Amino acid sequence: MYTKKSIIREFKKKYKTALVTGGAGFIGSHICEELVNNGITTISLDNYIAGKRNNIEHLYRSPHFKEVICDIRDKEELIKKLNGVDIIFHQAASKKTVSMANPQKDLDINAEGTLNLLELANQFKVKKFVHASTGSVYGEPVFSPQDESHPLNPVSFYGVSKLAGEKYVSFFNKVHHVNTTILRYYHVYGPRQEYNNFGGVVAIFIRNLLNGERPIIYGTGEQQRSFTYVKDVVLANLLVAVNPKARGETYNCASGIKISIQQLNDLVIDAFGKKGKVKPIYKDWVYGDIKKFDINNSKIVSIGATFTTDFKKQLLKTIKIMIKYIKNGE
Ligand SMILES: NC(=O)c1ccc[n+]([C@@H]2O[C@H](COP(=O)([O-])OP(=O)(O)OC[C@H]3O[C@@H](n4cnc5c(N)ncnc54)[C@H](O)[C@@H]3O)[C@@H](O)[C@H]2O)c1
Repeated sequence: MYTKKSIIREFKKKYKTALVTGGAGFIGSHICEELVNNGITTISLDNYIAGKRNNIEHLYRSPHFKEVICDIRDKEELIKKLNGVDIIFHQAASKKTVSMANPQKDLDINAEGTLNLLELANQFKVKKFVHASTGSVYGEPVFSPQDESHPLNPVSFYGVSKLAGEKYVSFFNKVHHVNTTILRYYHVYGPRQEYNNFGGVVAIFIRNLLNGERPIIYGTGEQQRSFTYVKDVVLANLLVAVNPKARGETYNCASGIKISIQQLNDLVIDAFGKKGKVKPIYKDWVYGDIKKFDINNSKIVSIGATFTTDFKKQLLKTIKIMIKYIKNGE
């Protein structure tokens, strides 16, 4: 049975220096924070295409934290950054979930960038490679709840490129014996989530209510999401780094809860005390938007992961923090 304390203890025994790609982004910054707070030398690597300095500024004063500005597509530059790294948490991605806009960029960053990192992880004998993937690799569900054996038929360029990234990860595990684990994330929410229109729906709805805007719901609002708290995702990353069972495995990294977009809208409106006063705007479905996320997380739970399932409670805490974050223009 793993606890947070035992995970950290094991982690510190195994690894001295961690590299977090996309370290200035939403999830990456939380991974950096957890590592630094526990005295692990941590390097955030980001090209700031979407990352924010404010997300990691509070870590600058720590002697355990280092930041490098680098693009994962630039292998020559990457080589200079990887020497001495024990573990890589690969979070960097081109990420507009249902975007049809720039498939080449998705491919270059999510597939080729991942390949670059894997080649160097192999060359530098990095002890562990934890790869952030997405539930978008499955596409429309053919059975529910979806476990890891579900067919992989992504319906967005993002999903296709993330699946290509996964395939490279598995290849390096099988052929070069790199110790890898793939985590498929779902609708991660929490402090520092991007709240512009390319951000996550939780943060966007909070921004809407804060700024007196009406939330936009695409489709009927009945579409379900498996909202997963960011700190649970961070701990799952550390868990698979220490649990030997996770070697070469792929996991759904999701809370398993099912909340509709309409429910989320109602909860956020309620939290702002605007029940009955704000009505969402309903717009057409967006192509590639998956209607139902009903996720089986038992595989990762069986190796020791835990997830917050009291969504309302965690949402209220998140709203409080996000109000400050958005007001400060962070
Ligand atoms: N947030 C979610 O709900 C969610 C769901 C499923 C999967 N994911 C995956 O989790 C990971 C992190 O997502 P996030 O929500 O924190 O996104 P984010 O956009 O906040 O963070 C991604 C970071 O990667 C950086 N980046 C992008 N391209 C880069 C490049 N070429 N070189 C170096 N850095 C680069 C960005 O500047 C950004 O800081 C991604 O791999 C994403 O695909 C996230």
